[in-house]
Order: sequence, then C-alpha cells, then structure tokens
Amino acid sequence: MARTKMIRRWRKNMDVSEDTQYVEMLTTLSEGSVRRNFNPYQDIEWDSPEFAVIPNDPRWVLPATDPIGRHPWYQAQPLERQIEIGMWRQANVAKVGLHFESILIRGLMEYAFWTPNGSPEYRYCLHEAVEECNHTLMFQEMVNRIGADVPGMPRLLKWIQPGIPLVAGPLPIPFWFGILAGEEPIDHTQKNVLREGKALHPIMERVMAIHVAEEARHISFAHEYLRKRVPDLSWRKRFVLSIYVPIVMRILCSAIIVPPRTFWKKFDIPRSVRKDIFFKSPQSRLMLRDMFGDVRMLAHDSGLMNPLAKLVWRICRINGSPSRYRSEPQRQHLVSVA
Ligand SMILES: [Fe+2]
Ligand SMILES: [Fe+2]
Repeated sequence: MARTKMIRRWRKNMDVSEDTQYVEMLTTLSEGSVRRNFNPYQDIEWDSPEFAVIPNDPRWVLPATDPIGRHPWYQAQPLERQIEIGMWRQANVAKVGLHFESILIRGLMEYAFWTPNGSPEYRYCLHEAVEECNHTLMFQEMVNRIGADVPGMPRLLKWIQPGIPLVAGPLPIPFWFGILAGEEPIDHTQKNVLREGKALHPIMERVMAIHVAEEARHISFAHEYLRKRVPDLSWRKRFVLSIYVPIVMRILCSAIIVPPRTFWKKFDIPRSVRKDIFFKSPQSRLMLRDMFGDVRMLAHDSGLMNPLAKLVWRICRINGSPSRYRSEPQRQHLVSVA
C-alpha cells in the first residue's frame, strides 16, 4: 500500500501540465534548441589551416583565470613546458567534460523514459540530450587533435559512474543537483576564460563559445526543474538534501578542475605547488567560492539553507553570499583581470 502511494506520488510529480508558467518556460527552451544549435562538424572548421595543431604554439599557454596558469611555479617554467602542460590540461578538462556529459545523456534518457505522453519535459530532455551528444563529439575531436592521451575523470568516479544515470528515474532531484555540480564549474570556468580575452587556440575558442551558448539553456532547465520541486518536499527530505547539495558540489567540482594523479607525476610538479593551487592559496579559494554563487542562490530560494547546511557549505569551502541573479559576474574576478 505504502509502495503504491509512493509510486502514485512519483508519477504525479512527473505530470507538469497544470503549471502553465513552467510549461511555457520549457516551450521557450525547446524552441531555443530548435532555433539555435550547433553541429560539431559543420560549425567548426577542423581542417582549415588556422585550426591546425602545430608544435610550440604559445596560444596553448594556460590563461591567468586557470588556477594552474596563474601560479608562479607555472609562469616560471620555460615556454615550451608551459605549452605542453597547457595542452594536456585543456585536453583533460575537455575529456572530463565529455565524461560528465555522457552520464548526463544517459540520465536524461532514463528520466524521459518515465515521463507521461504529452510531457513538455520529454521534448526538452531529448533536445538537451542531442546537444550533449554533439558536445561529446566536439570535445573528443578536440582531445584527438591536441593528441594528449588524457584519462579524464578520476578513476573512482569512472567505476561508480554506470550507476549514476539510474538515479535519474527514481530520484531525479539529487540527480539534477549532481548535474548542476558538473555544469556550473565548467560553465563558470569557460566564461571566465572568454571574458579574460587572452589569445586562445582557435579550436579552444570556438569549442568554448559553442559550449557556453548551449549550456545556458541546460543550466536554466536544471535550475527551474529544482525550483519547481524542491520547495514542495517534506522538511525531512529537504533537510537531507540541504546537506547533500554542498557535498556533491564540492566533490564533483574537484573531479573537474583538479587534474588527476597522472598529471602531477608526468610534469613532475612539486607537492607544495599542487597543494597551493588546490586549494590553499587565497585566489584558488576565492575561485572555488565564486563558482557556486548561483547554486547558493538556488539553495537559499528553495529552502535548503539551515544552520547545519551552512556549516557544511563552509566546511566544503564553497560558502559565501548567493548571487542576486543567475550568472552575476564576480566583481573580484573582473577587477583582477582588469
Ligand atoms: Fe555540454
Ligand atoms: Fe550541458
């Protein structure tokens, strides 16, 4: 009996037809996906001469918005070494990105599988999955062109990842928070690099511009999905979620921006430098905090901030004030870039 009640509630949660505002938002996003989308092999001229990957190209030097690129140790390396590290690092971030997207695509399919006929969520999830498939093609092509044999996400996460998409059906809310934990840091980092305006390799520049443009919709969807459902959860569930959110943000963010062990060994980087970059130095702590302003806003607005949750945000070192609106630029960063 309890079980059927649970299933009935779960099914009812998937029927969104009565919430006209939400349906309208989904229609706008879906129409946006039809109007503005990219194809990795039509919109990027991989074979044009400017896109060629040539040896010793200083455009691969890491930008100052990258925590490694900003570090004095990196800046003291010979140019050739900086380029080599830069190529490896940028290829690995692309690889981790596509690993995340692969998990997301499978989760979107799992979620969409259960949506009722006529659901606007079905259509949007499928549009998003198509876009993410294109992103994984684009990122893998970039990795192949750079030619660094990078591993992508940490090994432990690779082992547990087959189970993650399965959560999207029965527990979509924790799943969508996990997705935000992957999308927010990548989007934040890419936007900062583009804003910094350093001369980048055209592959990097084009891939990031395409990604930022499409990601805006994906992040919107995740935020709206959660804003609609989280406030209606029982206080008990919300309490558990409030502790889970900062932890998942911190773990997945590290999986994306901290390079794997192979990197430190390959380039013989001192342990003290590694510790300083991730995350002892004040700048890297600030970067970590800045990445989650929008998620803190979401947590505040949907009742996921309580004294214990605040403490967990602080322990995870991602506490701070919430954004006033989504994608609010971080003042300190703009100042330091200027
Ligand atoms: Fe993507
Ligand atoms: Fe995305």
